Amino acid sequence: MITALDHIAVAVPDLEKAIKRFMEDFGLPMGGTEEVAAAQTTAAFFPLPPTNIELVYPLEGKGPIATYLEKKGGGLHHLCFRSDNIDEDVARLRARGYQFLADAPTPGAHGSRVIFIHPKSCDGVLIEINQPAADHH
Ligand code: CO
Repeated sequence: MITALDHIAVAVPDLEKAIKRFMEDFGLPMGGTEEVAAAQTTAAFFPLPPTNIELVYPLEGKGPIATYLEKKGGGLHHLCFRSDNIDEDVARLRARGYQFLADAPTPGAHGSRVIFIHPKSCDGVLIEINQPAADHH
């Protein structure tokens, strides 16, 4: 079941500059950064309860965020729904014809499991589903 808007992700071409903007100009405390090897990204989190802003930047200049930045230069990248049972949600949505970018969930930030729905299935919006690690609550 989908239970919350976990985060909204913004792809940024200059992570340090974007972090400074969110901290100093917008006055938001940073929750931390994390390298997510499976997604080839470095992510910076800004908790804005009950959701988060996540800045995403390519890890080692490669991966889907690098491709996105080459095409668009930055922008709103995806929104993420939190799930209390990602396998069940994926199965239910697949049965309804949704296409996913992977066959199964992969490791995300903070030990979560994540999967992306193909934007073609959602009017052009990239939607992530994220099940937090069991010990994260
Ligand atoms: Co995300």
